Amino acid sequence: MQKKICIIGGGHMARCFLHGFIQSNYAPHLISVIDHNEEKRRYLQEQYHVETFEHISKLTHKIDIYILAVAPKDIEPLSRHFSLAKDALLISLAAGVQLQSLMEYFGNQRAIIRAMPNINAEVLCSATGLCSNSYCTENNHQDAEHLFRAIGICHWLENESHMDVFTAVLGSGPAYFFSLMEKMHHSAVALGIDPEASSTLIKQLALGSSKLTVGKKTDFTTLKRQVISEGGTTHAAMESLKENHFDATIAKAIAASIERAKALGQGNIQNKKLTHKEDK
Ligand SMILES: NC(=O)c1ccc[n+]([C@@H]2O[C@H](COP(=O)([O-])OP(=O)(O)OC[C@H]3O[C@@H](n4cnc5c(N)ncnc54)[C@H](OP(=O)(O)O)[C@@H]3O)[C@@H](O)[C@H]2O)c1
Repeated sequence: MQKKICIIGGGHMARCFLHGFIQSNYAPHLISVIDHNEEKRRYLQEQYHVETFEHISKLTHKIDIYILAVAPKDIEPLSRHFSLAKDALLISLAAGVQLQSLMEYFGNQRAIIRAMPNINAEVLCSATGLCSNSYCTENNHQDAEHLFRAIGICHWLENESHMDVFTAVLGSGPAYFFSLMEKMHHSAVALGIDPEASSTLIKQLALGSSKLTVGKKTDFTTLKRQVISEGGTTHAAMESLKENHFDATIAKAIAASIERAKALGQGNIQNKKLTHKEDK
């Protein structure tokens, strides 16, 4: 794909995307990044050889696809100062900010896609959820798929309301896995295992467990049962997790994330600007 991309916001997600895109042979000269922080711009230039700018008005070429990678709270203020090329596709990564709000901020008849990737994009393993507004063409869909397939797998959601669920399960998901790894590591170290060995072995555990599932039809419950023998050590651990409401804890964490996504979206709706400036 030869489309010119501009990533607005040069933070964590921009770095993961750049890493993923460039590993997938996307040409750096096709990518620009906008960020107001000079240090971040310098880092991105040096690391990924992409053009960076402080403000979108400094861009010297026409953009085909904007990727909005700023925090949800920054979107409305940004839309007051940034004019996007009229026929360009806008892809927003922001949790909770709905298509309707994005259209009000950036233009009512603009093709807009919401994407919920995760930081596994950095190793080309993102699991990205996508949904689009009615102005998107087949070409827009193909472009988005092309980009997100470069950094992992993607799935179109039939209903935008599923985006918050996707955000809670898959956008935030890496943090749940890292948290589990962290707690297991702390327990192992507290019980006398060498910290470096524990860290290496737990990473291998995560890799192996993941490999056992990917591309296989076996469901998670069946896999879990393969490790548990009645009355054995894993059985004892699973009983303890059950007594300590492990299932409910995970369900509650996901519900809390969904609530937060809704609140972020509503925050943006309350901040909505009253008039919309004309596109370029
Ligand atoms: N991180 C994840 O795992 C993840 C996963 C899925 C989706 N997302 C979504 O992706 C988006 C970006 O997340 P992130 O973790 O990359 O955030 P981040 O690390 O905070 O990066 C955002 C960057 O945008 C800059 N910025 C904000 N307003 C700007 C403006 N008007 N002009 C230029 N630069 C501006 C910020 O600068 P300052 O910090 O100086 O304001 C920051 O460098 C969020 O909407 C989030 O919901 C994140």
